[in-house]
Amino acid sequence: MKKIAVIGSINIDYFVECSTLPKFGETVFGDNFFMNFGGKGANQAVAASRLGGDVTLFGSIGNDEQKQVLLNHFKAENVNIEHLNIVDGVSTGAAFIQLYKGDNRIIITPGANQYTNGLYTKQVKDQLMNYDIFLFQLETPISMLEYLIPLLHKEGKTIILDPAPAVKLPEDVLSKISYLTPNEYEVQEVISHSSNEEQIMAEYPQKLIMTCGKNGVKYHNGERVIRLSARMAEAVDTTGAGDTFTGAFAVALAEGKPFEECLRYGIFAGSLAVTKKGAQSGMPYKYEMEELLQEG
Ligand code: RIB
Repeated sequence: MKKIAVIGSINIDYFVECSTLPKFGETVFGDNFFMNFGGKGANQAVAASRLGGDVTLFGSIGNDEQKQVLLNHFKAENVNIEHLNIVDGVSTGAAFIQLYKGDNRIIITPGANQYTNGLYTKQVKDQLMNYDIFLFQLETPISMLEYLIPLLHKEGKTIILDPAPAVKLPEDVLSKISYLTPNEYEVQEVISHSSNEEQIMAEYPQKLIMTCGKNGVKYHNGERVIRLSARMAEAVDTTGAGDTFTGAFAVALAEGKPFEECLRYGIFAGSLAVTKKGAQSGMPYKYEMEELLQEG
């Protein structure tokens, strides 16, 4: 089994469930409030670990009241955090999530995630070289990716980038990534030199994996666009579904499964994740996936 390093964000998620969204200047009642573990990096790490991945999370949290809760959580989830960066005088990242009819709108305050930067990754560079598969997202400074991705690429590492929140990425970074997993909305932001989706997909065969929520995923196999449909599921909260997909995809790659099987594994995991509220609550365990895969 190949070793997985997730380099990315760690948040506490503050959810408000609401049946009415406020307009500017308006106050409305929410239906329910709850807190949960989140952050795209932490979510990917937990998703991969629950599925049996050998996972280390590289990231930053504040030396605040959330610190111990998070350390306990990662320990319980079997995520290695020996290289975690604990930063004084800054808050742990926070995400404020409005949950409306199963879908979400998110505002994040990065806090300590800003410290998962070039300086931190330079400090852990030698340790990073012990891993095979690397997962990145974009809630941490881009300068860190610009520093690290060329080094990892030179060493022949597998690099997966979930480009969320979406920003335009330099071609030099894009060319060194093994797999890019935007959703339908992010793809135009990230790769903005063409507005033709099929043309964009053809340029990155077996590399650009477009996640389409309940419609599954799309990729180009070098000849045509292939669509893999999602498993039907009652979605109560889509928060973290993309992170679950990416974490599961990475575990399947780490186990040496063929590309399309890895995608199907990710899709199945994502379909289970949406059945519970909270980013990490619905992330499946390996035994649940095995049961589901047996059902077909
Ligand atoms: O992808 C979902 C995640 O986005 C949430 O857990 C939240 O923390 C934000 O980072």
